[in-house]
Amino acid sequence: MQLWQDKSTPPSLVCIVVIPISSIIRLMSLKTHWEHIYQAKAPTQVSWYQEHSLQSLKFIAQTGIAKTGHIIDVGGGPSALIGDLLKEGYQHITVLDISAAALEAARQRLGSRANEVTWLEADVLQTKLPYQEYDLWHDRAVFHFLTEFEDRRLYVNAVKEVVKPGGHVIVATFASDGPERCSGLPVVRYEPESLHNEFGAGFTLLDSTHEIHQTPFGTDQRFVYCYCRR
Ligand SMILES: C[S@@+](CC[C@H](N)C(=O)[O-])C[C@H]1O[C@@H](n2cnc3c(N)ncnc32)[C@H](O)[C@@H]1O
Repeated sequence: MQLWQDKSTPPSLVCIVVIPISSIIRLMSLKTHWEHIYQAKAPTQVSWYQEHSLQSLKFIAQTGIAKTGHIIDVGGGPSALIGDLLKEGYQHITVLDISAAALEAARQRLGSRANEVTWLEADVLQTKLPYQEYDLWHDRAVFHFLTEFEDRRLYVNAVKEVVKPGGHVIVATFASDGPERCSGLPVVRYEPESLHNEFGAGFTLLDSTHEIHQTPFGTDQRFVYCYCRR
C-alpha cells in the first residue's frame, strides 16, 4: 500500500492508492530484465531479431483492415514490423513495450517517421488501454512469457477490453517443439489449438501456421502463429 499526501492538501482529501506489492515487484523485476537486454545488445543481436516480420505481415494483410485501422503491437520492441506497416500506409499504429530502451531503439530505427507512431512504455498486464480502440492486436513473443494462469487471464481480458468486436488478434509464441526459454526467461509453448484455447470461444481461429525462425546466431526456433477474430 502506498500513501501519497500533498502537504498543501487538507487531511480530508488524502488520497490512498492501493497497488498490490506483487504487482510492483513484477513490474520492477520484469522491466529491469528487459532494460538490461536492450542496453547490452544491439537490436540485430537478440535471438528474436527478424529482418522483416514476414509471417506477421502476411496475416495482417489477410485481416483486410483499412489503412486507417488502429493497430497495436504489444511487446513490439525494435522489430522491423512497424517500419514496414508505415511503408504500407497504415496510419494509426501503437507500440507498447515494457522497456524504454526497446522503444528508444525502435524510434531510432524509424528516424523521422517515429513521430507517426504512438509509443507506450508499459507492462501489458498493468496498463489501461482505451476501450474497444483497436482493429488489430499483434503480439510476437510476449504471450509465451506468461507462465501463470492469472497473468494469461489478465492478458486475454485486456484483449477483450480493447479490441473492437469483429477485430483481429495475431499472436505468435514458441511452438511445442520450440525452445523452453526466451531471453533467459521460461516460456509456455503452444500449438494452434492450445493457444486458441487460452483465448476461448469468444475468439474464432481463422488461421494458424508454424514458422522456423533463424536466430542471428544461426540456430532454429520454432514458432506458432494464430490469427483469430473477436
Ligand atoms: C522476445 S521480445 C519480442 C519483440 C518483438 N515482438 C519481435 O518479435 O521482435 C519480447 C518483447 O516484449 C517486451 N515485453 C516483455 N514482457 C512485456 C510485458 N509484460 N508488457 C509489455 N512488453 C513486454 C520486451 O521488452 C521485448 O521487447
